[in-house]
Amino acid sequence: MAEVVLEDIVKFYGDVLAVNHVSLSIQDGDFVTLVGPSGCGKTTTLNMIAGLIEIDGGSIKIGSRIVNDLDPKDRDIAMVFQNYALYPHKTVYGNLEFPLRMRGVQKPERERRIKQAAESLGIVPLLNRRPRQLSGGQQQRVALGRAIVRDPAVFLMDEPLSNLDAKLRVHMRAELKHLQAELEATVIYVTHDQLEAMTMSDKVAIMNHGVLQQYASPTDVYHKPANVFVASFMGSPPMNLLPVQIVQDGGLHLVGEGFRIQPSSARLQAILKAAPNPKLVLGVRHTGIQLAQPAQNNVVTAEVYTFEPTGDVTFVHVMLGKQMIISSTTDSSFQARMGEMVKLHLNEDQIHLFDADSTHCLTN
Ligand SMILES: Nc1ncnc2c1ncn2[C@@H]1O[C@H](COP(=O)(O)OP(=O)(O)O)[C@@H](O)[C@H]1O
Ligand SMILES: [Mg+2]
Repeated sequence: MAEVVLEDIVKFYGDVLAVNHVSLSIQDGDFVTLVGPSGCGKTTTLNMIAGLIEIDGGSIKIGSRIVNDLDPKDRDIAMVFQNYALYPHKTVYGNLEFPLRMRGVQKPERERRIKQAAESLGIVPLLNRRPRQLSGGQQQRVALGRAIVRDPAVFLMDEPLSNLDAKLRVHMRAELKHLQAELEATVIYVTHDQLEAMTMSDKVAIMNHGVLQQYASPTDVYHKPANVFVASFMGSPPMNLLPVQIVQDGGLHLVGEGFRIQPSSARLQAILKAAPNPKLVLGVRHTGIQLAQPAQNNVVTAEVYTFEPTGDVTFVHVMLGKQMIISSTTDSSFQARMGEMVKLHLNEDQIHLFDADSTHCLTN
Protein backbone atom coordinates (compact mmCIF):
# COMPACT_ATOMS: atom_id res chain seq x y z
CA MET A 1 0.00 0.00 0.00
CA ALA A 2 1.06 3.58 -0.45
CA GLU A 3 0.44 7.19 0.37
CA VAL A 4 -0.98 9.52 -2.28
CA VAL A 5 -0.10 13.19 -2.48
CA LEU A 6 -1.92 15.65 -4.71
CA GLU A 7 -0.17 18.96 -5.05
CA ASP A 8 -2.01 21.90 -6.51
CA ILE A 9 -3.79 19.91 -9.20
CA VAL A 10 -5.83 21.70 -11.83
CA LYS A 11 -8.19 20.55 -14.56
CA PHE A 12 -9.97 22.56 -17.21
CA TYR A 13 -12.62 21.27 -19.61
CA GLY A 14 -12.49 24.09 -22.17
CA ASP A 15 -13.33 27.15 -20.07
CA VAL A 16 -14.74 25.16 -17.16
CA LEU A 17 -12.35 24.95 -14.23
CA ALA A 18 -13.42 21.53 -12.93
CA VAL A 19 -10.66 21.09 -10.34
CA ASN A 20 -9.26 24.27 -8.86
CA HIS A 21 -5.78 23.93 -7.29
CA VAL A 22 -6.54 20.98 -5.05
CA SER A 23 -3.86 19.72 -2.63
CA LEU A 24 -4.43 16.60 -0.55
CA SER A 25 -2.15 14.29 1.34
CA ILE A 26 -3.54 10.79 1.84
CA GLN A 27 -1.68 8.60 4.29
CA ASP A 28 -0.80 4.98 3.66
CA GLY A 29 -3.67 2.80 4.87
CA ASP A 30 -6.21 5.62 5.15
CA PHE A 31 -9.76 5.54 3.87
CA VAL A 32 -10.28 9.00 2.39
CA THR A 33 -13.55 10.14 0.86
CA LEU A 34 -14.02 12.89 -1.70
CA VAL A 35 -17.53 14.18 -1.12
CA GLY A 36 -19.59 17.03 -2.50
CA PRO A 37 -22.58 17.82 -4.69
CA SER A 38 -22.90 16.58 -8.24
CA GLY A 39 -20.50 18.37 -10.58
CA CYS A 40 -18.07 19.53 -7.87
CA GLY A 41 -15.11 17.70 -9.43
CA LYS A 42 -14.90 14.42 -7.50
CA THR A 43 -14.77 12.07 -10.48
CA THR A 44 -12.38 14.34 -12.33
CA THR A 45 -10.02 14.32 -9.34
CA LEU A 46 -10.21 10.54 -9.00
CA ASN A 47 -9.67 10.02 -12.73
CA MET A 48 -6.60 12.24 -12.63
CA ILE A 49 -5.15 10.06 -9.86
CA ALA A 50 -5.96 7.01 -11.98
CA GLY A 51 -4.37 8.56 -15.04
CA LEU A 52 -7.58 8.35 -17.07
CA ILE A 53 -7.55 12.14 -17.45
CA GLU A 54 -4.47 14.30 -18.00
CA ILE A 55 -3.82 17.01 -15.46
CA ASP A 56 -3.42 20.64 -16.52
CA GLY A 57 -1.28 21.61 -13.54
CA GLY A 58 0.24 20.33 -10.33
CA SER A 59 1.57 16.90 -9.49
CA ILE A 60 0.39 13.53 -8.25
CA LYS A 61 2.54 11.22 -6.19
CA ILE A 62 1.69 7.58 -5.44
CA GLY A 63 4.13 6.01 -3.01
CA SER A 64 7.50 7.51 -3.80
CA ARG A 65 6.81 8.14 -7.50
CA ILE A 66 5.47 11.18 -9.31
CA VAL A 67 2.98 9.54 -11.66
CA ASN A 68 1.97 12.56 -13.79
CA ASP A 69 3.31 10.98 -16.95
CA LEU A 70 2.63 7.32 -16.20
CA ASP A 71 -0.07 5.30 -17.97
CA PRO A 72 -2.95 4.07 -15.79
CA LYS A 73 -1.66 0.50 -16.00
CA ASP A 74 1.70 1.54 -14.59
CA ARG A 75 0.30 3.43 -11.58
CA ASP A 76 -0.38 0.35 -9.43
CA ILE A 77 -3.99 1.33 -8.76
CA ALA A 78 -7.26 -0.58 -9.04
CA MET A 79 -10.60 1.08 -9.73
CA VAL A 80 -14.14 0.16 -8.74
CA PHE A 81 -16.98 1.98 -10.45
CA GLN A 82 -20.69 2.49 -9.87
CA ASN A 83 -21.54 0.28 -12.85
CA TYR A 84 -19.68 -2.88 -12.11
CA ALA A 85 -18.18 -3.26 -15.58
CA LEU A 86 -17.91 -7.05 -15.30
CA TYR A 87 -17.28 -9.18 -18.38
CA PRO A 88 -20.72 -10.69 -19.06
CA HIS A 89 -19.46 -13.84 -20.78
CA LYS A 90 -16.89 -14.75 -18.15
CA THR A 91 -17.76 -16.53 -14.92
CA VAL A 92 -17.09 -14.82 -11.62
CA TYR A 93 -13.87 -16.83 -11.43
CA GLY A 94 -12.96 -15.68 -14.94
CA ASN A 95 -13.67 -12.08 -14.04
CA LEU A 96 -11.39 -12.28 -11.02
CA GLU A 97 -8.72 -14.10 -12.97
CA PHE A 98 -8.60 -11.83 -15.99
CA PRO A 99 -6.61 -8.92 -14.50
CA LEU A 100 -4.09 -11.41 -13.12
CA ARG A 101 -3.66 -13.18 -16.46
CA MET A 102 -3.15 -9.80 -18.10
CA ARG A 103 -0.29 -9.16 -15.71
CA GLY A 104 1.29 -12.54 -16.30
CA VAL A 105 0.62 -13.87 -12.80
CA GLN A 106 1.23 -17.64 -12.73
CA LYS A 107 -1.66 -20.07 -12.25
CA PRO A 108 -0.97 -21.24 -8.66
CA GLU A 109 -0.60 -17.64 -7.51
CA ARG A 110 -3.79 -16.68 -9.42
CA GLU A 111 -5.70 -19.47 -7.67
CA ARG A 112 -4.38 -18.43 -4.28
CA ARG A 113 -5.33 -14.79 -4.68
CA ILE A 114 -8.78 -15.53 -6.10
CA LYS A 115 -9.52 -17.94 -3.26
CA GLN A 116 -8.43 -15.40 -0.66
CA ALA A 117 -10.44 -12.53 -2.18
CA ALA A 118 -13.52 -14.70 -2.73
CA GLU A 119 -13.41 -15.87 0.86
CA SER A 120 -13.08 -12.40 2.33
CA LEU A 121 -15.99 -11.20 0.17
CA GLY A 122 -18.17 -14.25 0.79
CA ILE A 123 -18.54 -15.06 -2.91
CA VAL A 124 -16.98 -18.54 -3.03
CA PRO A 125 -20.36 -20.17 -3.89
CA LEU A 126 -20.75 -17.78 -6.83
CA LEU A 127 -17.45 -18.46 -8.59
CA ASN A 128 -19.00 -20.51 -11.41
CA ARG A 129 -21.87 -18.14 -12.14
CA ARG A 130 -22.05 -15.45 -14.78
CA PRO A 131 -22.71 -11.79 -13.86
CA ARG A 132 -26.33 -11.89 -15.10
CA GLN A 133 -27.02 -14.67 -12.57
CA LEU A 134 -26.02 -12.35 -9.71
CA SER A 135 -27.86 -9.68 -7.74
CA GLY A 136 -26.59 -6.10 -7.81
CA GLY A 137 -24.91 -6.53 -4.45
CA GLN A 138 -23.20 -9.73 -5.56
CA GLN A 139 -22.00 -8.09 -8.77
CA GLN A 140 -20.55 -5.23 -6.78
CA ARG A 141 -18.75 -7.71 -4.57
CA VAL A 142 -17.22 -9.34 -7.64
CA ALA A 143 -16.14 -5.92 -8.90
CA LEU A 144 -14.45 -5.34 -5.53
CA GLY A 145 -12.88 -8.78 -5.74
CA ARG A 146 -11.43 -8.00 -9.12
CA ALA A 147 -9.73 -4.95 -7.58
CA ILE A 148 -8.55 -6.85 -4.50
CA VAL A 149 -6.85 -9.72 -6.38
CA ARG A 150 -4.60 -7.17 -8.02
CA ASP A 151 -3.20 -6.20 -4.61
CA PRO A 152 -2.71 -2.60 -5.78
CA ALA A 153 -0.97 0.23 -3.95
CA VAL A 154 -4.22 2.22 -3.94
CA PHE A 155 -7.91 1.50 -4.46
CA LEU A 156 -9.90 4.19 -6.27
CA MET A 157 -13.67 3.89 -5.95
CA ASP A 158 -16.24 6.08 -7.69
CA GLU A 159 -19.68 5.83 -6.07
CA PRO A 160 -19.39 2.02 -5.91
CA LEU A 161 -22.53 1.58 -3.80
CA SER A 162 -24.82 4.01 -5.61
CA ASN A 163 -26.62 1.36 -7.68
CA LEU A 164 -27.61 -0.70 -4.64
CA ASP A 165 -30.88 -0.30 -2.79
CA ALA A 166 -30.80 1.63 0.47
CA LYS A 167 -30.65 -1.35 2.81
CA LEU A 168 -27.93 -3.16 0.92
CA ARG A 169 -25.96 0.07 0.66
CA VAL A 170 -25.87 0.39 4.45
CA HIS A 171 -24.79 -3.24 4.73
CA MET A 172 -22.06 -2.93 2.08
CA ARG A 173 -20.83 0.28 3.69
CA ALA A 174 -19.95 -1.65 6.83
CA GLU A 175 -18.48 -4.56 4.86
CA LEU A 176 -16.31 -2.33 2.75
CA LYS A 177 -14.99 -0.49 5.77
CA HIS A 178 -14.22 -3.76 7.54
CA LEU A 179 -12.48 -5.14 4.46
CA GLN A 180 -10.40 -1.99 4.05
CA ALA A 181 -9.18 -2.25 7.63
CA GLU A 182 -8.44 -5.95 7.18
CA LEU A 183 -6.43 -5.32 4.01
CA GLU A 184 -4.82 -2.19 5.51
CA ALA A 185 -5.62 -0.70 2.14
CA THR A 186 -5.30 2.89 1.00
CA VAL A 187 -8.72 3.78 -0.41
CA ILE A 188 -9.81 6.96 -2.15
CA TYR A 189 -13.57 6.84 -2.31
CA VAL A 190 -15.90 9.20 -4.18
CA THR A 191 -19.48 9.77 -3.09
CA HIS A 192 -22.12 12.51 -3.14
CA ASP A 193 -23.62 10.97 0.02
CA GLN A 194 -22.44 12.81 3.12
CA LEU A 195 -23.53 9.95 5.36
CA GLU A 196 -21.35 7.47 3.47
CA ALA A 197 -18.47 9.91 3.81
CA MET A 198 -19.05 10.38 7.53
CA THR A 199 -19.46 6.71 8.36
CA MET A 200 -16.68 5.13 6.30
CA SER A 201 -13.77 7.51 6.30
CA ASP A 202 -10.65 8.21 8.28
CA LYS A 203 -10.66 11.61 6.61
CA VAL A 204 -13.17 13.45 4.46
CA ALA A 205 -12.29 15.89 1.67
CA ILE A 206 -15.29 18.10 0.95
CA MET A 207 -15.35 19.78 -2.45
CA ASN A 208 -17.55 22.44 -3.98
CA HIS A 209 -17.17 23.99 -7.45
CA GLY A 210 -13.80 22.30 -7.89
CA VAL A 211 -12.40 23.78 -4.68
CA LEU A 212 -11.40 21.75 -1.64
CA GLN A 213 -13.42 23.18 1.26
CA GLN A 214 -12.07 21.15 4.18
CA TYR A 215 -9.99 18.03 4.73
CA ALA A 216 -10.40 16.56 8.19
CA SER A 217 -11.75 13.65 10.24
CA PRO A 218 -15.52 13.06 10.16
CA THR A 219 -15.74 14.28 13.76
CA ASP A 220 -13.96 17.54 12.99
CA VAL A 221 -15.91 18.12 9.81
CA TYR A 222 -19.13 17.69 11.78
CA HIS A 223 -18.21 19.63 14.90
CA LYS A 224 -15.76 22.13 13.41
CA PRO A 225 -16.93 22.91 9.88
CA ALA A 226 -14.47 25.25 8.17
CA ASN A 227 -17.14 27.31 6.43
CA VAL A 228 -20.84 27.69 5.74
CA PHE A 229 -20.76 25.25 2.83
CA VAL A 230 -19.32 22.42 4.91
CA ALA A 231 -21.76 23.20 7.74
CA SER A 232 -24.69 23.00 5.34
CA PHE A 233 -23.51 19.92 3.44
CA MET A 234 -22.34 17.58 6.19
CA GLY A 235 -24.82 16.18 8.70
CA SER A 236 -28.46 15.25 8.48
CA PRO A 237 -30.59 17.16 9.18
CA PRO A 238 -28.25 19.95 8.05
CA MET A 239 -27.00 22.59 10.45
CA ASN A 240 -29.43 25.45 11.02
CA LEU A 241 -27.89 28.62 9.57
CA LEU A 242 -29.29 32.00 10.53
CA PRO A 243 -28.13 35.43 9.30
CA VAL A 244 -27.33 37.65 12.32
CA GLN A 245 -25.84 41.07 13.10
CA ILE A 246 -23.63 41.99 16.01
CA VAL A 247 -25.37 44.81 17.88
CA GLN A 248 -23.84 46.78 20.77
CA ASP A 249 -26.65 47.54 23.20
CA GLY A 250 -25.44 47.42 26.78
CA GLY A 251 -23.31 44.43 25.81
CA LEU A 252 -22.82 42.61 22.54
CA HIS A 253 -25.94 40.94 21.17
CA LEU A 254 -26.66 38.79 18.16
CA VAL A 255 -29.78 39.92 16.40
CA GLY A 256 -31.48 37.88 13.70
CA GLU A 257 -34.92 37.90 12.18
CA GLY A 258 -37.36 37.27 15.00
CA PHE A 259 -34.78 36.77 17.74
CA ARG A 260 -32.11 38.42 19.81
CA ILE A 261 -29.66 36.72 22.12
CA GLN A 262 -26.81 37.84 24.33
CA PRO A 263 -24.15 35.15 24.48
CA SER A 264 -22.52 35.06 27.91
CA SER A 265 -19.56 32.75 27.35
CA ALA A 266 -16.12 34.29 27.23
CA ARG A 267 -15.52 32.28 24.04
CA LEU A 268 -18.36 33.90 22.06
CA GLN A 269 -17.95 37.35 23.60
CA ALA A 270 -14.29 37.40 22.54
CA ILE A 271 -15.23 36.42 19.00
CA LEU A 272 -17.95 39.06 18.79
CA LYS A 273 -15.53 41.69 20.06
CA ALA A 274 -12.86 40.76 17.52
CA ALA A 275 -15.14 40.19 14.52
CA PRO A 276 -14.12 42.57 11.72
CA ASN A 277 -17.53 42.26 10.07
CA PRO A 278 -20.78 42.76 12.05
CA LYS A 279 -22.65 40.52 9.63
CA LEU A 280 -22.41 36.89 10.66
CA VAL A 281 -24.11 33.57 10.11
CA LEU A 282 -25.06 31.71 13.27
CA GLY A 283 -24.92 27.94 12.89
CA VAL A 284 -26.39 25.46 15.33
CA ARG A 285 -27.31 21.81 14.88
CA HIS A 286 -30.64 20.43 16.02
CA THR A 287 -28.98 19.01 19.14
CA GLY A 288 -28.01 22.54 20.19
CA ILE A 289 -31.62 23.79 20.14
CA GLN A 290 -33.57 22.41 23.04
CA LEU A 291 -37.02 23.09 24.37
CA ALA A 292 -36.18 25.75 26.97
CA GLN A 293 -36.30 25.25 30.68
CA PRO A 294 -37.54 28.41 32.45
CA ALA A 295 -35.11 31.22 33.23
CA GLN A 296 -32.39 30.29 30.77
CA ASN A 297 -30.73 32.89 28.60
CA ASN A 298 -30.38 32.54 24.81
CA VAL A 299 -34.05 31.68 24.47
CA VAL A 300 -35.90 32.29 21.23
CA THR A 301 -39.62 31.97 20.55
CA ALA A 302 -40.73 30.07 17.49
CA GLU A 303 -43.84 28.58 15.96
CA VAL A 304 -44.19 24.82 15.55
CA TYR A 305 -44.42 23.88 11.86
CA THR A 306 -44.43 20.12 12.26
CA PHE A 307 -42.69 17.39 14.18
CA GLU A 308 -41.25 14.06 13.17
CA PRO A 309 -40.87 11.23 15.68
CA THR A 310 -38.19 8.80 14.45
CA GLY A 311 -38.05 6.56 17.51
CA ASP A 312 -35.10 7.70 19.58
CA VAL A 313 -35.26 11.32 18.46
CA THR A 314 -38.14 13.59 17.53
CA PHE A 315 -37.27 16.39 15.09
CA VAL A 316 -39.28 19.53 15.70
CA HIS A 317 -39.50 21.91 12.74
CA VAL A 318 -40.23 25.45 13.81
CA MET A 319 -40.52 28.83 12.12
CA LEU A 320 -38.22 31.46 13.54
CA GLY A 321 -39.43 34.57 11.76
CA LYS A 322 -39.67 33.44 8.14
CA GLN A 323 -36.95 30.83 8.48
CA MET A 324 -37.55 27.17 9.21
CA ILE A 325 -35.16 25.58 11.68
CA ILE A 326 -34.97 22.11 13.11
CA SER A 327 -34.58 21.28 16.78
CA SER A 328 -34.80 17.87 18.36
CA THR A 329 -35.79 16.19 21.56
CA THR A 330 -35.13 12.73 22.92
CA ASP A 331 -38.34 12.95 24.97
CA SER A 332 -40.33 10.27 23.17
CA SER A 333 -43.60 11.56 24.64
CA PHE A 334 -43.09 14.97 23.00
CA GLN A 335 -46.23 16.31 21.35
CA ALA A 336 -46.91 19.71 19.80
CA ARG A 337 -49.66 21.36 17.83
CA MET A 338 -49.02 22.99 14.51
CA GLY A 339 -48.94 26.75 15.09
CA GLU A 340 -48.15 26.43 18.78
CA MET A 341 -45.51 28.89 20.08
CA VAL A 342 -42.57 27.25 21.84
CA LYS A 343 -39.51 28.57 23.61
CA LEU A 344 -36.20 27.17 22.45
CA HIS A 345 -32.84 27.41 24.12
CA LEU A 346 -29.69 27.79 22.00
CA ASN A 347 -26.82 25.97 23.68
CA GLU A 348 -23.85 28.33 23.49
CA ASP A 349 -21.32 25.53 23.42
CA GLN A 350 -22.87 24.38 20.16
CA ILE A 351 -23.09 27.76 18.45
CA HIS A 352 -20.86 28.28 15.42
CA LEU A 353 -20.30 31.73 13.97
CA PHE A 354 -19.29 32.37 10.39
CA ASP A 355 -18.29 35.62 8.69
CA ALA A 356 -21.19 36.43 6.36
CA ASP A 357 -18.91 37.61 3.53
CA SER A 358 -16.00 35.16 3.56
CA THR A 359 -18.26 32.38 5.02
CA HIS A 360 -15.26 31.21 7.08
CA CYS A 361 -15.86 29.87 10.54
CA LEU A 362 -14.79 32.17 13.39
CA THR A 363 -15.44 29.78 16.26
CA ASN A 364 -13.21 26.74 15.52
N1 LIG B 1 -15.68 15.30 -20.29
C1 LIG B 1 -16.11 16.47 -19.84
N2 LIG B 1 -16.19 17.55 -20.66
C2 LIG B 1 -16.60 18.76 -20.22
N3 LIG B 1 -16.95 19.02 -18.96
C3 LIG B 1 -16.88 18.00 -18.08
C4 LIG B 1 -16.46 16.68 -18.47
N4 LIG B 1 -16.50 15.88 -17.40
C5 LIG B 1 -16.92 16.66 -16.38
N5 LIG B 1 -17.15 17.93 -16.77
C6 LIG B 1 -17.58 19.05 -15.92
O1 LIG B 1 -16.61 19.20 -14.89
C7 LIG B 1 -17.23 19.43 -13.63
C8 LIG B 1 -16.85 18.34 -12.65
O2 LIG B 1 -17.39 17.09 -13.08
P1 LIG B 1 -17.19 15.75 -12.28
O3 LIG B 1 -15.76 15.62 -11.90
O4 LIG B 1 -17.78 14.66 -13.10
O5 LIG B 1 -18.08 16.01 -10.99
P2 LIG B 1 -18.63 15.00 -9.87
O6 LIG B 1 -18.00 13.67 -10.04
O7 LIG B 1 -18.28 15.67 -8.58
O8 LIG B 1 -20.12 14.96 -10.06
C9 LIG B 1 -18.72 19.54 -13.93
O9 LIG B 1 -19.02 20.89 -14.10
C10 LIG B 1 -18.88 18.77 -15.20
O10 LIG B 1 -19.99 19.25 -15.92
MG1 LIG C 1 -18.89 11.78 -10.36
